Amino acid sequence: MELVKWQFRNPYHDAQHDTLRTFTFGPHTVAMNQQPDQQIDLHQNTGFLIWDGAYILSKFLYTHAPLTNRSCLELGAGNALVSIVARLAGASRVMATDLAEYLDFIRSNVSQNKALPGSSVEIEVQELVWGSEGQDVGQFDVVVGSEILYLEGLHGALLETVRRAMHAESVAYFVYKDRALGEHTFQDTAVQHGFRVKELPRTFLDSEFQDDRYHLLRLQLSE
Ligand SMILES: C[S@@+](CC[C@H](N)C(=O)[O-])C[C@H]1O[C@@H](n2cnc3c(N)ncnc32)[C@H](O)[C@@H]1O
Repeated sequence: MELVKWQFRNPYHDAQHDTLRTFTFGPHTVAMNQQPDQQIDLHQNTGFLIWDGAYILSKFLYTHAPLTNRSCLELGAGNALVSIVARLAGASRVMATDLAEYLDFIRSNVSQNKALPGSSVEIEVQELVWGSEGQDVGQFDVVVGSEILYLEGLHGALLETVRRAMHAESVAYFVYKDRALGEHTFQDTAVQHGFRVKELPRTFLDSEFQDDRYHLLRLQLSE
């Protein structure tokens, strides 16, 4: 029997409407629920779908980022695919955060994948509203977020949260799609907030997305 290589873009699946989706990372399959029946717009329910950027960031972390024995914080996790893959990639501590209404959804996806390697590390699930001072989660080695730069008005608050979660050696990675919603202004705002920002070459994106409008940013604190 001929083995067919798994591809993200599969004509037999409807990514926007399937309630169960599977993603392959090396020999591992991650099974994720989504809730496409929700009414989704820019300001509500976006976390109940798994956005392409979550796969792109997960694939980058699994393939390129040294996560072994490092702690990882996901912001705007929604479904938490990225957190689940961070644990699979060897992170020693993982925290998935979002607005309160997503926490049960995150827990259900985490629990669905508890048989995967790395599950001795319990994924912590916590509310974290960007810019909210009363919700300090401590510092992490790696901070990540996918498809969370589309609300330009929240860039400052998001960067405050990122800064508080980083120590001098931390690194943050963000994947976003340019939807002409002001996402590209995030880089300059980050520099103004005291970060060094680098857009990583497209070769770091999954091969199915290298020609697309996706971007991968790396942030570090300036000296
Ligand atoms: C487009 S979804 C992306 C979800 C997931 N990261 C993905 O790529 O599939 C944006 C996420 O950011 C979260 N979010 C939006 N505003 C937020 C805020 N002020 N504080 C924390 N999370 C927020 C949403 O709840 C949602 O889960």
